[in-house]
Amino acid sequence: MDYKTLCAQMQSLAREEGWYVPLFANASALLWETLPDINWAGFYLKRGKDLVLGPFQGKTACIRIPRDRGVCGAALRENKTILVPDVHAFPGHIACDSASNSEIVIPLRRPDGSVFAVLDIDSPLPGRFSQEDRAGLESFAAVLEKAARGLAECEKTIYLAGGCFWGCQKYFDLMEGVMETEVGYANGPIPNPSYEQVKAHAGHAETVRVVYDPAVLPLQELLEKYFQVIDPTAVNHQGEDFGIQYRTGIYYTDPADAAAACGALACLGRRLGRAPTVECLPLESFYPAEEYHQKYLEKHPDGYCHIHFDR
Ligand code: SME
Repeated sequence: MDYKTLCAQMQSLAREEGWYVPLFANASALLWETLPDINWAGFYLKRGKDLVLGPFQGKTACIRIPRDRGVCGAALRENKTILVPDVHAFPGHIACDSASNSEIVIPLRRPDGSVFAVLDIDSPLPGRFSQEDRAGLESFAAVLEKAARGLAECEKTIYLAGGCFWGCQKYFDLMEGVMETEVGYANGPIPNPSYEQVKAHAGHAETVRVVYDPAVLPLQELLEKYFQVIDPTAVNHQGEDFGIQYRTGIYYTDPADAAAACGALACLGRRLGRAPTVECLPLESFYPAEEYHQKYLEKHPDGYCHIHFDR
């Protein structure tokens, strides 16, 4: 299989348009007509915590894949390629087409390393995909990741610290234009801290990774809404919570957001008549918090929250 040519063909198809719909539609068509012995080739897109069906070629497929199920769910969770020589031996495999016997699923990542979609290819032959196929298809996925930077037009990410992340996550989840959120620990000195370490003032900030659609919710508007639920002059303190992990901060990964964020803070400072204590810094690190912290207030509707949702 000549993956070099396949990647070059994809590259030229991607040149014209980086939006994921035409990109993934042509990518599945190209795989479908090029790869021998396959019965499904297509994409599942991350939506909320789970995956939904995207452009594909093959028989109709299941629309939703929960993150804890299927080969696709495993590739999303583990953020790595999953090669399955025998789908019947894979616990949790979802058989969309009973003719499938082997499968490969490759995650597609944003520039910050988080998964936004998976490429799924099925075959009726057992053990259809070799290590060579894996390497070739990973290069193919890399072409798409790069081209999908056009996704930046319909999807952007910012990291916001506003005190206890339970309430902040719910606040952002309720906002029109917010596509995805995840709570975690940002800009601290040690990798992969536990909640207990962060609580013991290791130095990280409780932060929400917010993926949003700037056409629906421009950054300025998102930041204005964020300012409404924080005390922007408090130092290491929000609501009932005290400690360095409760400092406020806007952490950006796109240098183009620095001016917008610092501008919004300067504007807030003029309104307040004093300088806000909200940090405005590049994101240095972000470690997702333990699963029990994710969507905490959905799991515990009466849980502690420093934000009042009637605003
Ligand atoms: N087999 C996949 C489900 C998608 S279909 O293959 C199109 C899985 O187990 O995740």
